[in-house]
Amino acid sequence: MARDVVVVGSVNADLIVQVERHPHPGETLLGHTSSVLPGGKGANQAVAAARLGAEVALVAAVGDDVNAGIALAGLRDAGVDLDHVTAVDAPTGLAVVTLADDAENTIVVVPGANASVSPRLVDAAADLIAGARVCVVQAEIPLATVAHVARVAAAGGTRLLLNVAPAAELPTETVRAADPLVVNEHEAAILLGRRDREPADAAAELAALGVRSVVVTLGAGGVVGIEDGEAWSLPARRVDALDTTGAGDAFVGALAAGIADGLPVRQAAALATRVAAASVTRLGAQPSYPWQGDDLP
Ligand code: RIB
Repeated sequence: MARDVVVVGSVNADLIVQVERHPHPGETLLGHTSSVLPGGKGANQAVAAARLGAEVALVAAVGDDVNAGIALAGLRDAGVDLDHVTAVDAPTGLAVVTLADDAENTIVVVPGANASVSPRLVDAAADLIAGARVCVVQAEIPLATVAHVARVAAAGGTRLLLNVAPAAELPTETVRAADPLVVNEHEAAILLGRRDREPADAAAELAALGVRSVVVTLGAGGVVGIEDGEAWSLPARRVDALDTTGAGDAFVGALAAGIADGLPVRQAAALATRVAAASVTRLGAQPSYPWQGDDLP
């Protein structure tokens, strides 16, 4: 069955500890709450798109361990096709998320099975990717695989949404294949090799590399973008933030769903800012994502 969106990416179990404030180096603090929730940038983006009604498949790897069940639960619940999720001899990816009461988080990711998402796994999903409207990839899997996904998507004539998160340096030919390229300010600076750019200028410089559409996310500052040389900006929705974990992934998943539905990037981004805003009002990444028909900020 053809899919609207195929995501190639990471799957993690998120171990979340909530603290009044972040500890200083060498300090031991008592937290007040802990939970283990499904996460990983690839899985989060797949769930965000599927909850909005898109037909989604995921290409990924997990371990043969208890965290695999936790990590896949949100994907199953959202109806994501997991036929191309492989079990490998490595622990399921783990993210340790420390969430302070001011909603600021720190995240340490141990890739584990995500390091096994190889070009070979992508080749095995080439027909799936060729049949999709949008292929989404991020940088929480080996970068050689990210570059390969760009080639496989191009060979299949499938539009590529490249989200360079976490920040990474990628070959210019990979970046050029994106439509859209989605980065935050920090990730844009790493790609450009300079930090002294205003977000709109960074978007324009990235587009000047030969990228048809670019989206730079600014958190509470909204979004700036450029598509076919036309620049635009959107404000963020104002909400009381409880947990920003996975808000960027909610944005990317919703953007992919919108583009797969035929929306121009700017209109898809307008939907995505609302979905991301909804996500920060609840705890965790995937459990915080809205379903199709839910009220949005
Ligand atoms: O983007 C948020 C995600 O980053 C978390 O779910 C965590 O797993 C890390 O991958």
